[in-house]
Amino acid sequence: MATSYSSSIFLLVVGYLLVVSIGNSNAQLTTNFYSSSCPNLYSTVRSVVQSAIRKEARMGASLLRLFFHDCFVNGCDGSLLLDDTSSFTGEKMAIPNNGSVRGFEVIDQIKSAVERVCPGIVSCADVLAITARDSVVSLGGPTWNVKLGRRDARTASQSAANNNIPQPTFNLSALITSFQNQGLSTTDMVALSGAHTIGQARCTSFRSRIYNDKNIDSSFAKTRQANCPSTNNTGDNNLAPLDLQTPTCFDNKYYKNLVNQKGLLHSDQQLFSGGGTNALVQTYGSNPNRFNADFVAAMIKMGDIKPLTGSNGEIRKNCRKLN
Ligand code: HEM
Ligand SMILES: *[C@@H]1O[C@H](CO)[C@@H](O)[C@H](O)[C@H]1NC(C)=O
Ligand SMILES: *[C@@H]1O[C@H](CO)[C@@H](O)[C@H](O)[C@H]1NC(C)=O
Ligand SMILES: *[C@@H]1O[C@H](CO)[C@@H](O)[C@H](O)[C@H]1NC(C)=O
Repeated sequence: MATSYSSSIFLLVVGYLLVVSIGNSNAQLTTNFYSSSCPNLYSTVRSVVQSAIRKEARMGASLLRLFFHDCFVNGCDGSLLLDDTSSFTGEKMAIPNNGSVRGFEVIDQIKSAVERVCPGIVSCADVLAITARDSVVSLGGPTWNVKLGRRDARTASQSAANNNIPQPTFNLSALITSFQNQGLSTTDMVALSGAHTIGQARCTSFRSRIYNDKNIDSSFAKTRQANCPSTNNTGDNNLAPLDLQTPTCFDNKYYKNLVNQKGLLHSDQQLFSGGGTNALVQTYGSNPNRFNADFVAAMIKMGDIKPLTGSNGEIRKNCRKLN
């Protein structure tokens, strides 16, 4: 009797642990992961992020984008940060990244500062996650507790970067599929796109939209055409703000622009072009608290994509190379 009682308790406990571990494969990421091993981590990261943004406000946007481009390529594992060598092909030369992603020098500064206070403890993948949050906060956006405990990949994939990072030519269904492939919902996709309330894009990313699309405000198109010639390959790197109103302020104006047909990228305007996401764009445009809450939830979800934990991967000393 006593034996069968204790063995059923045992089975219950085992069953519970199985359900918990299968139901949440990211159970290892926690918000207090470095609280005893690196108590000054947050203040160390924050001060470098803030000084980089004081020097150039756009850097906050560039740093936020790094986290996205890392997480969508085989998980948030710091793979984006690895430099190419004669014997190693990284992700920096992939089409969505080459000549476009920036901020690697700032990540180096942050990592060096972190190594000075806690050598060999904090992964580059986690540095990216904290840096993304601090960038949003520094530009006036919402804050959240960052889940930590990721380790750094010893591999990278240029082809996965080419295949998984969504392109500005995508239509709504392609955008939805791209995020769905990462376990992110349509709501997550629309909320995360609000990151385009900060930062800049190159003419090559929006040329076709401002000359060919029909669902664009005509005076806005003319303004953008003035600094982005129609001739392919001319002025490709000329920049324009993704949010024409407040490009260095993390607010909900991105969605108001979409409602007025003033999205810069073809993919941006797809979110408000008569498809299933029109209503959500209007909600975010009129309700900043709803946008902030959904953006935060989606950032945390994106940060949970396939982290390396336990004894997988490594804690890189220099984010640009394997130990
Ligand atoms: C929904 C699909 C998305 C597409 C198609 C897309 C595409 C792009 C493109 C084409 C640019 C301009 C690149 C250039 O011309 O050099 C850009 C910039 C940017 N993206 Fe996205 N993006 C998407 C989602 C996201 C997400 C989810 C985030 C972050 C959570 C993000 C953050 C940014 C930021 C902050 C910039 C400006 C970077 C800077 O100024 O350096 N994007 N994106
Ligand atoms: C990356 O961009 C540079 C300069 O824009 C270009 O010369 C080079 O061919 C590109 N590399 C790849 C692999 O596309
Ligand atoms: C969206 O793009 C995909 C891939 O290019 C294409 O197969 C599909 O037909 C497009 N859908 C719509 C509604 O235009
Ligand atoms: C640029 O080249 C592409 C592909 O050849 C073409 O579809 C497009 O119409 C050209 N011009 C513009 C303004 O996009």
